[in-house]
Amino acid sequence: MNKNITKHYGLISKEDRQRKNGHKSKIVWFTGLSGSGKSTLAVHLERELFARGVNTYILDGDNMRLGLNKDLKFSKEDRKENIRRLSEVGKLFVDAGIVVLVSAISPFKKDRDEARKIFKTDEFIEVYVKCSLHECERRDPKGLYKKARAGLIKDFTGISSPYEPPEYPDLILETDKESIKNMVTRLIDYLVDNGLFE
Ligand code: PPS
Repeated sequence: MNKNITKHYGLISKEDRQRKNGHKSKIVWFTGLSGSGKSTLAVHLERELFARGVNTYILDGDNMRLGLNKDLKFSKEDRKENIRRLSEVGKLFVDAGIVVLVSAISPFKKDRDEARKIFKTDEFIEVYVKCSLHECERRDPKGLYKKARAGLIKDFTGISSPYEPPEYPDLILETDKESIKNMVTRLIDYLVDNGLFE
């Protein structure tokens, strides 16, 4: 922390922005294996929220790695930095009154816990996108598991790099058991029950 840096406050608060938008701002953090369905859930949830007049934005791990995070690879340290940046950018969106949907493997519990710490308790919703490695590998939408098994990708989550499932996620969505429609309904119900429009 630089001692010579001073925080500046604007004249419009997060609460002012939330009042104007007619909803609270939140961060919904989807964590799970590659191919578990994080991004699919995020885009479907976003469509439903958009239809209800909610201001949203998706921060997708893959997409962020094409720009802001293009200097990062998949070592433990780089993933930690990736999650730190996603959470800091997410915080800016939450301050701007937006419901931000983060879709990132975020395999390490400690990194997810650090992310949660910079938000208010009711702002951060951890969603465990649960799907067996067997099913993710069967889906293999990008052909990455095949490459990882062939030794062409190092540090691949679930194969040569660990995934630590959340111990106490706010929601668990089992994408090899439930329909997308059902899971999106559960997400919306969770958000509404937890004060999205209060
Ligand atoms: S992390 O662990 O949260 O930092 O990863 P994330 O930013 O979500 O990026 C995951 C996407 O990168 C692709 N990819 C890999 N994933 C895991 N391990 C390795 N080594 C790897 N190399 C590339 C892959 O497309 C991931 O996207 P999803 O949507 O999860 O399949």
